[in-house]
Amino acid sequence: MTSSTENRTSLWGGRFSGGPAEALARLSVSVQFDWRLAPYDLAGSRAHARVLAHAGLLDAEELGKMLAALDDLEAACASGAFRPTVEDEDVHTALERGLLERLGTLGGKLRAGRSRNDQVATDLRLYLRDHARGVALRLVELADALTEQAERHIETPAPGMTHVQHAQPVTFGHWLLAHVQPLLRDLSRLRDWDARAAVSPLGSGALAGSSLPLDPVQVAKELGFATAAPNSMDAVADRDFVAEFLFITAMVGVHLSRLGEEVVMWTSQEFGWVELDDAFATGSSIMPQKKNADIAELARGKSGRLIGGLVTVLTMLKGLPLTYDRDMQEDKEPAFDAVDQLQLVLPALAGMISTMTVRADRLAAAAPVGYTLATEVADWLVRKNVPFREAHEITGKLVALCVARDCALDEVSDEDLVAISSHLDPDVRSVLSVKSALAARKTYGSTGPGPVRDQLAAAADTLVTWRAWASETVVPR
Ligand code: ARG
Repeated sequence: MTSSTENRTSLWGGRFSGGPAEALARLSVSVQFDWRLAPYDLAGSRAHARVLAHAGLLDAEELGKMLAALDDLEAACASGAFRPTVEDEDVHTALERGLLERLGTLGGKLRAGRSRNDQVATDLRLYLRDHARGVALRLVELADALTEQAERHIETPAPGMTHVQHAQPVTFGHWLLAHVQPLLRDLSRLRDWDARAAVSPLGSGALAGSSLPLDPVQVAKELGFATAAPNSMDAVADRDFVAEFLFITAMVGVHLSRLGEEVVMWTSQEFGWVELDDAFATGSSIMPQKKNADIAELARGKSGRLIGGLVTVLTMLKGLPLTYDRDMQEDKEPAFDAVDQLQLVLPALAGMISTMTVRADRLAAAAPVGYTLATEVADWLVRKNVPFREAHEITGKLVALCVARDCALDEVSDEDLVAISSHLDPDVRSVLSVKSALAARKTYGSTGPGPVRDQLAAAADTLVTWRAWASETVVPR
């Protein structure tokens, strides 16, 4: 690919005596990935055209023609009638070409008081604010799927674990809701991020603002931002909003990877707690019997690139001198990729969760295995005024006896109980059932069916609010 200084699609040919080397052009071009910013760039162009007219730099007729051409260009972009070519360095270049094709020299007036530096920062903010809501909606759908499964298993006992060792009985509904809480935090992170991202760089020009009588605050309002950037140099240099967005998507990735890992375990032969619906499982090309949890594994695997995107952008930004540097063109692919990957993986996970069959019988059978009720004995002793330290010791001896005899806690004879400690008596058996252990957990946030019902209702309410937020339109059309 070669271009000449006369190439009308270039935005910067004037002071150069020859066209760019092919190697430079190939390195420099970003239109193959930044083309998706086109609708946002056009929204910015409409707002900029109005502010130019307000400043007396476009007359009413020119403004009318400009806005009509921008609308026409937008429709042509949407239908595919207008496409970027290899000659277009980036989305801004391509769209200026489209405008010139429609307006001739009048099209060249739009660039007054504007630079690609404030333009690209604005476009990316608009894109991410818009797509943050798209990602949020998918998060809500996954949280809904988990919540609906949880509702079916409010009373289903399961062996809660620490260190992947059976620890204490929990309800499986509580366990599923433990995967909803991180998603609710992610949603709140997105909304907090959005408030900080709602600052418009437009009007900052290349770095120093403008000598033309523009109105950045008015432009900001038109584009759905809360305000305009207070410092033009920071406005074109700042990519905190990209890094912070990528932190959130990396965090989401980590949450999905933990859920994915559990589903992989739950569906294994060894656990057999969950069976996936055929539509959300995969087979093997050689082993006819296989049913694999590929969605869960891909969810786990995607976290790698989501974390990588954050590291890429932070590393690219580190030590960059103010203001704009071309390094910053590298911010877009990780941001777009994060959005794309989450839009792929979240609906698949939601479908997998909502259609999976939970084997409540197996979970219930596993719940007491591994002496998970030992804490009930210790708590029973505490209620009898035995200091917990001593209660722990006594219960440990009881467990050791059971291990030696290969019997359950409630199978120890009355004599043996008293032999371990004078504090132990047959009454202790009243706490040695999973059902009573779960029912006893009544305090706020506990695993008992009561607090789980409360948690479920609260989560469902919150999700309605998040769905409303995620459905808001931020970028005016
Ligand atoms: N494609 C560029 C980017 O993404 C647009 C801004 C170019 N600005 C410049 N001064 N070369 O960063």
